[in-house]
Amino acid sequence: AELVEHTFVVSQVKLNRLCNDTLVTVVNGQFPGPAIEVNEGDSVAVQVVNKSPYGLTIHWHGVKLQLNCWADGAGMITQCPIQPNKNFTYRFDVAGQKGTLWWHAHVGSLRASIHGALIIRPRSGASSYPFPKPDKEIPIVIGEWWEMDLDQLDKNLRNGYHLDMPRAATINGKPGDLYNCSGTVKDSNIVKVEHGKTYLLRIVNAALSSEYYLKIAGHKFTVVAADANYVKPYITDVIAIAPGETVDALLVTDAHPAGRYYMVAKASQSPKPVPQIPLFITRGIVQYSEGPRKEEEKALSDSSTSSIMAPEMPDEHDAATSFYFHGNLTSLQPQPVPANVHEHLFYALDGGFFCRKGESSCNNDTNMMGMVNNVSFQLPTTTPLLQAHYHGNMSSIGTLRELPDRAPRMFNYSKTLEPTSKATSVRRLRYNVTVEIVFQSPVLADTYSNPMHLHGHDFLVLAQGFGQYNAETDVATYNLLDPPVRNTVHVPIFGWAAVRFVTNNPGVWFLHCHLGHHSSSGMAAAFVVENGPTLDSTLPPPPEDFPSCENYNSRVAY
Ligand code: C2O
Repeated sequence: AELVEHTFVVSQVKLNRLCNDTLVTVVNGQFPGPAIEVNEGDSVAVQVVNKSPYGLTIHWHGVKLQLNCWADGAGMITQCPIQPNKNFTYRFDVAGQKGTLWWHAHVGSLRASIHGALIIRPRSGASSYPFPKPDKEIPIVIGEWWEMDLDQLDKNLRNGYHLDMPRAATINGKPGDLYNCSGTVKDSNIVKVEHGKTYLLRIVNAALSSEYYLKIAGHKFTVVAADANYVKPYITDVIAIAPGETVDALLVTDAHPAGRYYMVAKASQSPKPVPQIPLFITRGIVQYSEGPRKEEEKALSDSSTSSIMAPEMPDEHDAATSFYFHGNLTSLQPQPVPANVHEHLFYALDGGFFCRKGESSCNNDTNMMGMVNNVSFQLPTTTPLLQAHYHGNMSSIGTLRELPDRAPRMFNYSKTLEPTSKATSVRRLRYNVTVEIVFQSPVLADTYSNPMHLHGHDFLVLAQGFGQYNAETDVATYNLLDPPVRNTVHVPIFGWAAVRFVTNNPGVWFLHCHLGHHSSSGMAAAFVVENGPTLDSTLPPPPEDFPSCENYNSRVAY
């Protein structure tokens, strides 16, 4: 095992996309940020040097951080933001996980520009992959190009639901050739391949706003892992990937080498089109080395791209393709599914109105909040939850409330929107108990699928379905043999999903939708996992140089 060290300098730089210079907050001047590459069992130390005007944290999305909740980097959940002109070094081990994860800022919407891949290779080398050894690995980070200031975006979000949108979708930071002012291939991500080889695509959806369909014309994928857990090889020509999810897929370059092929990521939308939301499509190009030669390539780059083969994409309102993609994934190995469930939780995910005191009419989007079981989550403003929990003064968090185990009414969504409350909602869980959560998306509203992400644990995704969850009949559909192991569960639009996990990691762990406008408006909750009986089930003290909230300026985005 080795120590992998990085320095992340966070600053505002001007980057040029789509004919505009835009001031963006990024790591080491790059968008997306640098990939962290480790072998399983390695230790990681990332020194974050904050030269940006924002308080910020970095979260290691999907890394289990056993007994190391302090390193989780969830702003005001596990730590105070690193203030401007301050540094902090995150230290953690990567154990028991293989595949692709990612890292991102975890204050407000900054993750839209501050993120990168986290690649975990098997300790014993690539030859120990349970699939054909890839000749090369290619990270594919799907993201968004925001011309809007992300701090302003957060201000809007804190006041409720909003429809601010990015300017473009991107693959590895490039918007592709379908936007105004991007008519040539120079704005496109080019994947250079050789004929007859096997590539391992390490795909991350780092976007705030949309789930994506990904296809490459003339090629198929073999999905081999999701959220850094191996799955049974699954052959498909389309990958569905929601915000927060990661997918490892093999690409065999067996198409005609003289051709060029678009790689397209297309956002999926609510079934009922919302006119204010543009359709996001970004595309890059898969280019064989045997293909057009240099001069020809140069000519092509200035001219039209019509000779490039384009895949036929699913309709943007097609929810079924994503439903089946997610449902077709199973674990590579049989999973020991704990049968004895100690805590049954039913979490209704929805948007609701929050009416301020004395406000007579509150029937517009500006009062809409994301919520779980009718509670819209509020981040603490002075003490992070983990510190409060560790020091035994949770009561210092004025807005603290126990999250109800189920929705206060039966959610039949005949009436989807009703007044909600705001609170720092927390659910306490004993150490080493089995928790089952059924997540229910709204059934009658025009909404999205909800990619629910849990920090510090993976869960077994036992089942998903369309419509209302039915406790009597739907348990019969549970996969108790080889359910996929994930850190983000895709709760289908108009449907539900059931997960199980064991509380084996003491600390305070955030649970939230990974869609930006959902999480930032309160579709979130926190779990307190209590200490177990022994030293190796007890959360150790915080690092000595842990950022403090002193002089914390709540105006700074969090
Ligand atoms: Cu990827 Cu709480 O986040």
